[in-house]
Amino acid sequence: MTLIPVVTYGDPILGRPVALVPEVTEDLLRLTDDMFDTMQSARGVGLAANQVGVDLCLAVIAYQGERLKLFNPRVVERAGQQRYLEGCLSLPGIEGDVSRAESVLVTYLDSTGASVERRAKGHLARILQHEIDHLNGILMLNHLSVAARTLQRAALDRLREQYKKRGTRRR
Ligand code: NI
Repeated sequence: MTLIPVVTYGDPILGRPVALVPEVTEDLLRLTDDMFDTMQSARGVGLAANQVGVDLCLAVIAYQGERLKLFNPRVVERAGQQRYLEGCLSLPGIEGDVSRAESVLVTYLDSTGASVERRAKGHLARILQHEIDHLNGILMLNHLSVAARTLQRAALDRLREQYKKRGTRRR
C-alpha cells in the first residue's frame, strides 16, 4: 500500500486546470491504485490527481463498493439542483453548503482507455462534480457564499501559513 501526501489549500496546483491524459498507461493505473489507498486511509470518497501533486486529468471515486477510475472526465450535461454539506481532503477542517446539479452526464476514459458516458444523480453526481471541479482548478470554497467563506477565513489563513512554512510540496 502506497500513500501519497495530499496537497492542501495554498498550493497553486489546486487552482489551475490540469493537463489532459494522452493515454491510459500502466503507470497511470498504478497511480490511481495509490490514490485509492491514499483516499481511503483519509476516509475520503473522491480524489483528483492535482490533490496529490500530479498535473494530469484523472480522478478516483469510491461509491457503493465501486472503484471508479476516471481519465479526462467532463460534465457534458447538468440538470436540477441539490444542496449539501461538503468537505475536501485539501481543505482539512473546512465544511460548507454547496449547491450543485442534481444529475449529470459525464464522459471519461475508463481504465481500459475506452470512452464511457455515465449518468449519475444524487450523491454520486455530487462527488463527480466536486472531483471534476478540482481538475478544472476549482475548489468547493469557490461555491460558498461570501458570508460562508468569511466564516472560514481563520482556517484558510492557517492552511495557507502551513503551506508557506513547508515551502515546497512534499512528494
Ligand atoms: Ni476535494
